[in-house]
Amino acid sequence: MARGWFITLEGGEGAGKSTQARRLAGAFAAAGLPVLATREPGGTPAAERVRALLLDPALAWTPLAETLLHGAARAEHVARVIRPALEAGTHVVCDRFADSTLAYQGYGLGCDLGAIATLAGLIGLAPDLTLVLDLAPAESKRRLAARGAGADRYERLGTAFFARVQDGFRALAAQAPERCLLIPAAEDETRVAGRILDAVRARLGLSL
Ligand SMILES: Nc1ncnc2c1ncn2[C@@H]1O[C@H](COP(=O)(O)OP(=O)(O)OP(=O)(O)O)[C@@H](O)[C@H]1O
Ligand SMILES: [Mg+2]
Repeated sequence: MARGWFITLEGGEGAGKSTQARRLAGAFAAAGLPVLATREPGGTPAAERVRALLLDPALAWTPLAETLLHGAARAEHVARVIRPALEAGTHVVCDRFADSTLAYQGYGLGCDLGAIATLAGLIGLAPDLTLVLDLAPAESKRRLAARGAGADRYERLGTAFFARVQDGFRALAAQAPERCLLIPAAEDETRVAGRILDAVRARLGLSL
């Protein structure tokens, strides 16, 4: 049986990751291809508990502790959900993955990038394709205000932090052009979805 493809969606707050993950998983399903849509931090009952700790505005973590919590949640998610699905031939679409840890805890909060990469190596699973949704912090702020829900711990961080995160995602995409595609996320939702489908067709050879 062929292994499934592992596709991740990355980008800053409100860039459209969840919207596009839903649309992409829908396109797989419509084509009759087995697909699992999941998200990080989270994706297992234990990792969803860690997610709640990470997003709680009442808590504070050092950048290293925060990185390790993301790593703990990811280790669970990969071992119990993502890897078994891929090995069973199911394609996996994941809303955020290891690039978010590099962009947020590394570029954003100053945690050592080499240490984060070492942690990713321990977990030992890299995406086949990563769609990086690129959105300016000002537009991100506008979208989150329009969505109107209470801000989580990350959404409370300032514009300078989000500018570092955006620069980080751009640097990560530039460092791994064979894996990553940087997509302008201010474009119309359907147009963004079209670019994602084109990338999945061209790079993974799937007919969606
Ligand atoms: N291309 C787009 N143009 C305009 N608005 C969009 C676009 N894509 C998504 N939105 C809207 O922006 C908001 C954020 O989208 P979404 O929740 O998909 O982003 P996200 O990257 O998952 O955010 P978060 O980082 O908070 O999880 C939603 O209200 C969504 O409807
Ligand atoms: Mg989301």
